[in-house]
Amino acid sequence: MPKITIASRQLQADSDTCLLDSLLSQGEKIPYSCRSGVCHACMLQSDGGKPPLQSQLLLPREKASAQYFLACQCYPTDDMTVSLPENKPISAIITAIEKPESTLAVLTLSPRQPLSYQPGQHLNISANQRLSKDCYLASSPIDSQPMIYIRRKVGDSFSTWAHEVARVGDKIQLGQPQGIGINVETMNRQLHLICHENHLAPMVAVIKHCSLLKPDAKVTLYCFYTGSTAPDIKHFFEKLSTQYKSFSYHFLKSHEAGKIADTVADLAADVTSDVASDKSESELIISGKRNFIATLESHGLNIRSALKLLPIKERTLR
Ligand code: FES
Repeated sequence: MPKITIASRQLQADSDTCLLDSLLSQGEKIPYSCRSGVCHACMLQSDGGKPPLQSQLLLPREKASAQYFLACQCYPTDDMTVSLPENKPISAIITAIEKPESTLAVLTLSPRQPLSYQPGQHLNISANQRLSKDCYLASSPIDSQPMIYIRRKVGDSFSTWAHEVARVGDKIQLGQPQGIGINVETMNRQLHLICHENHLAPMVAVIKHCSLLKPDAKVTLYCFYTGSTAPDIKHFFEKLSTQYKSFSYHFLKSHEAGKIADTVADLAADVTSDVASDKSESELIISGKRNFIATLESHGLNIRSALKLLPIKERTLR
């Protein structure tokens, strides 16, 4: 039985039980949520002993080489000394605030130290002790400055702060990026991105990163909106598509009387057949609430192999 040392305590692990369960059953307080390698809440660092390869597969390369691993994916075979990662906040300054739409604030941030992340990851932003929120990053790690999107929501004090109080030059605190990172380098030739307009941020990160890293990869965005006209952020994609020739986008009116429109069902079927017929040369990423994804599926979209980016609140629901 491998021995696990954590905070100077020596515990027994079992190669048939994930390390998360072994540690929890022996009274350790390890944060966790999804238990499936998605949320990264259970990330630990090995200070002695090599973590099993399987426990590092879903982590960004820099984290894996720094001996981080996911306890819920770890079936230890050897003794290890492990610790909870220090999640020290990083100070940052707001360097720009744009409002591409009246309900959307885009904050550009300048962290005091380099922020290592991948498209698809999120981090905690704290404006002061009472105002904080987990937000998806909407920038490519190659961009010089990270960006986040904040939608205005009635009764949400963080969004009120972002839209009415925040100013360029304000100091904020950032948590470490979390969640599954999308490794664009290993992506196949064609990428379909489907999202709801309120969940665009991680898609923007993927598109920007592809445009810088894989400019020949064909990327198509389908963004569903619920208002009477396409959201103003469409202009951002218009501009992007003139520079990034392999990128195309479609804004689709999706909800009518709470139901997805027939045109969307047709589109879902098209994307499904494309993904299926292209012998896995196409990949599908969906960003939106669970009920949005379920609606797409109920109209024929094959979401089995899709990577799903749920709103952070829904990711942590059990
Ligand atoms: S609990 Fe391990 S990754 Fe979510």
